[in-house]
Amino acid sequence: MSSLVYFVFLLAVVKASRNTLHEKSEVDAEKPKLAATIMLPRNVTIPGVIAFGDSIVDSGNNNNLRTILKCNFPPYGQDFGGKFATGRFSDGRVPSDFVAERLGIAKTIPAYLDPALKGKDLLKGINFASGGSGYDPLTAKIVRVVSLEDQLKYFEEYKGKIKAIVGEEKANYMVENSLYLVVASSNDLAHTYIARSLRYNSTEYPDYLADMTSKFVKKLYGLGARRIAVFSAVPVGCLPSRRTLNGVKRKCSENLNKMALQFNAKLSPELVALRKKSPGSKIVFVEVYDILHNMIENPKKYDMKCDIL
Ligand SMILES: *[C@@H]1O[C@H](CO)[C@@H](O)[C@H](O)[C@H]1NC(C)=O
Ligand SMILES: *[C@@H]1O[C@H](CO)[C@@H](O)[C@H](O)[C@H]1NC(C)=O
Repeated sequence: MSSLVYFVFLLAVVKASRNTLHEKSEVDAEKPKLAATIMLPRNVTIPGVIAFGDSIVDSGNNNNLRTILKCNFPPYGQDFGGKFATGRFSDGRVPSDFVAERLGIAKTIPAYLDPALKGKDLLKGINFASGGSGYDPLTAKIVRVVSLEDQLKYFEEYKGKIKAIVGEEKANYMVENSLYLVVASSNDLAHTYIARSLRYNSTEYPDYLADMTSKFVKKLYGLGARRIAVFSAVPVGCLPSRRTLNGVKRKCSENLNKMALQFNAKLSPELVALRKKSPGSKIVFVEVYDILHNMIENPKKYDMKCDIL
């Protein structure tokens, strides 16, 4: 994916956090300037960005796992400052990095499993995402990456570590006020569904995934997170591999896209309900499907070349 696609993710998050935080922030989400910082209201501080999920946000965790799903070799990273492959499934940075930059926190958010991390590297947020992971526990198991359940375990460990560094009060502040990004479902829908199709049909499986997502968010809230942005499914039927499998014309798989939309339709109201039930929470559903689908259908409009899709 190009960095432009990531930029769209970013805009979606920025817009959602503006709508949801209910405060008059001077966000200029329309202006395509990556380096611009969002002006938050004076009484609102976001000390860190904490990411969970799959390859859309993994910033190098898989480098340290025994899995074949790694991106720590060229051409990955060709647009990353210093031009080296960090393990991000990207030519540059990932959405969690862009969000952190726009919030004025840091240019990149490090991978939790990076053995070179020092204590101070943990204080602007952290990234637990693992390429190939998903809401269905089977998804991470098949490709031997970190499941979302285990990402939560690492989060608990992380909380202990920051407490040891800055003390309980500051650590609690950090946990409560950081922005959490949750990005998954692509691998479940595009890969694991096939293995699950004896048990679930194409409407039941996205429903099951949406329930798993709500459960995940509930647990995350239970561990102290409050500002949680959960990304919608993307048009998975348009992933290059899915288009190749869909015949010589390489059209998007409508069946898979339908499942992604079903997931979004189920998840969105579930998150509204969860937010109402969870005092002090700002849980938001970040809709990215439509804009990504539009970009795929009208690449020229977005100044993108067709050959990258
Ligand atoms: C910031 O101040 C506004 C206006 O006084 C208030 O409505 C809002 O709840 C405050 N936000 C936080 C996070 O304290
Ligand atoms: C899946 O199964 C449910 C209940 O068994 C049924 O209502 C639904 O229509 C089925 N969906 C599809 C796409 O066959």
